[in-house]
Amino acid sequence: MTREISVELQKVSKLYGQDKVVNEVSLSVEKGEIFVLIGPSGCGKTTTLKMINQLIPHTSGNILVNGTDVAELDVVELRRSIGYVIQYIGLLPHLTIQENIAFVLKLTKQSKKLQKEKAEELIETVGLDFSHLNRYPRELSGGQQQRVGVARALAANPDILLMDEPFGAVDPLTREQLQNELLRLQESIQKTIVFVTHDMQEAFKVGNRIGILRQGELVTLGTPMEIVKSDDEFVKNFIGQGALFEVFDTIPVTRVLEKSVPLVRIHEKVDLQAEELKDWENVFVVEPDGNCKGYIPLSDLNKDGSFAAEQIEPLPKASSPDISVKLAVQEMLWGGRTWLPIVDESTGFKGIVLFRSCAALVAENGR
Ligand SMILES: Nc1ncnc2c1ncn2[C@@H]1O[C@H](COP(=O)(O)OP(=O)(O)OP(=O)(O)O)[C@@H](O)[C@H]1O
Ligand SMILES: [Mg+2]
Repeated sequence: MTREISVELQKVSKLYGQDKVVNEVSLSVEKGEIFVLIGPSGCGKTTTLKMINQLIPHTSGNILVNGTDVAELDVVELRRSIGYVIQYIGLLPHLTIQENIAFVLKLTKQSKKLQKEKAEELIETVGLDFSHLNRYPRELSGGQQQRVGVARALAANPDILLMDEPFGAVDPLTREQLQNELLRLQESIQKTIVFVTHDMQEAFKVGNRIGILRQGELVTLGTPMEIVKSDDEFVKNFIGQGALFEVFDTIPVTRVLEKSVPLVRIHEKVDLQAEELKDWENVFVVEPDGNCKGYIPLSDLNKDGSFAAEQIEPLPKASSPDISVKLAVQEMLWGGRTWLPIVDESTGFKGIVLFRSCAALVAENGR
């Protein structure tokens, strides 16, 4: 199946005098993906991004938005139809949060009622409550202002969002929160997002695909896993040795969850001949409601497969099925264990994750 392309750059260049700051960049951004542009300072990320909505006109090549060459589009219309979020937020200080969010709607002469409704809807979408709407930007924290910046970009309901180091100005903890919120939000809004960052960890975390720029040229383009496996010396140096571990942050733990864990009910016997016991060292004791009481090493069972309640070892600290493989590996390293129970808060025991399954992922390709 061919995927729909939302943004396409065909040999796009930008010259300032003799200076080629973007050099024949070609790339396609698929509908609904987060495409990350990354590279050292001055490599042309912002310029590339701003050429998409023509805040900066390109010198040569073609730029297509939803299949139409931007040269054929009205520039003002184009800019308004694409959401744009920048690093220093750029909220207008003399306008309230509500007015900031609804700014484009005011420009396009939408009714006051609609402006208010949209602002109320969007402030919630980005995880802030209504009380913020009547405040001024200076009365919000950096992270809150950043959320408002995202809400503002969503106001005209664009299907494409350009984000230029949107979380660059906040502390690492808030940044991680905003990244998680963006990913959660993206699950429901399914926008096409071109996201600029110079932080590799951020790129691996939010990017479906990543393009690396160097001095105006696109050096490589691929999924995080493909990028990590690149043989290119510049790419290897740029992403650093910790990169593979960061890729694990993009893979849900459910990918490596062992679901057919050998289970036994309390007061029942383990069938020691059962095929499913092969390769296992422990059996897991579940209660009728699906909760796991603990586990018993096979070697501790009586000869007939029976066991006493006192023999049950308590389950080590469990993790939620929402975590990434990276977090699962971290948990195992911290806990000094080679496996990790996965428990869903509402539905109970989901299975376990084995360290060796995580390690086996390294050999696998793709996400
Ligand atoms: N108006 C301009 N005139 C001349 N050169 C410019 C102009 N704007 C940008 N440049 C140059 O173009 C190059 C690319 O700039 P750009 O802002 O795209 O870099 P960047 O990758 O976004 O960097 P950073 O990570 O620092 O934001 C830089 O070398 C910059 O000096
Ligand atoms: Mg920039």
